[in-house]
Amino acid sequence: MPEISGKKVLVTAGPTYEPIDPVRFIGNHSSGKMGIAIAEELSREGAKVTLVCGPTTLTSSASIKRIDVRSAQDMFDAVMKLSDDQDMFILSAAVADYRPKTVAEEKIKKKDAAMTIELEPTPDILANLGKRKTSEQLLVGFALETENELDNAKQKLEKKNCDMIILNSLNHAGAGFGHDTNQVTIIDRHHNMNTFELKSKTEVAKDVVTAIKRYQ
Ligand code: CTP
Repeated sequence: MPEISGKKVLVTAGPTYEPIDPVRFIGNHSSGKMGIAIAEELSREGAKVTLVCGPTTLTSSASIKRIDVRSAQDMFDAVMKLSDDQDMFILSAAVADYRPKTVAEEKIKKKDAAMTIELEPTPDILANLGKRKTSEQLLVGFALETENELDNAKQKLEKKNCDMIILNSLNHAGAGFGHDTNQVTIIDRHHNMNTFELKSKTEVAKDVVTAIKRYQ
């Protein structure tokens, strides 16, 4: 069973911002609260935590090594640089799946006609870690689903080679983006499943850390 104290754990949190031009970006409503709560809980348990965090105004304790990033590519680069040296990864960031194919150097001027922005996929951090992780490294992903929640989460776990996936419910008032509460189901690679009540993100973080400690 994984021990937490003394382990090196990398946590991703928050949104990513994908630039369109010098003043605009594509982003999402993630606040980073869930990931930061997990980083704090791991640190309290004695882990050596690195937090790779997208744009957020939230602060984290001095005991946590924090790397602030903006885009999915920045987050990918920061995580990959540190990946060989980690015991565990918890990827809670709401990484943009697409980015503008080209970034305009000057602010795009308004015209009368409709406009289209061509998008290309961003690198998938979780999938890349799933491909390269060793059998000693524990990989925990998040899944945000709006339909066929459990099936999709299980598929994501297999596809991205995770040890555990945390399904965030969006079908629950008070859960998810921007809220202080969350409602999760934790599924491991043996398909053991644990559904939790709606609770504060601090309490959810404790459940996540307990699930990691019990994982075998
Ligand atoms: N993730 C990542 N890098 C990306 C996209 C997602 O590391 N470029 C991670 C998230 O941090 C999360 C997990 O992948 O842990 C699931 O993200 P989600 O957006 O729900 O899944 P997708 O693979 O994007 O699948 P879909 O959009 O089809 O649901």
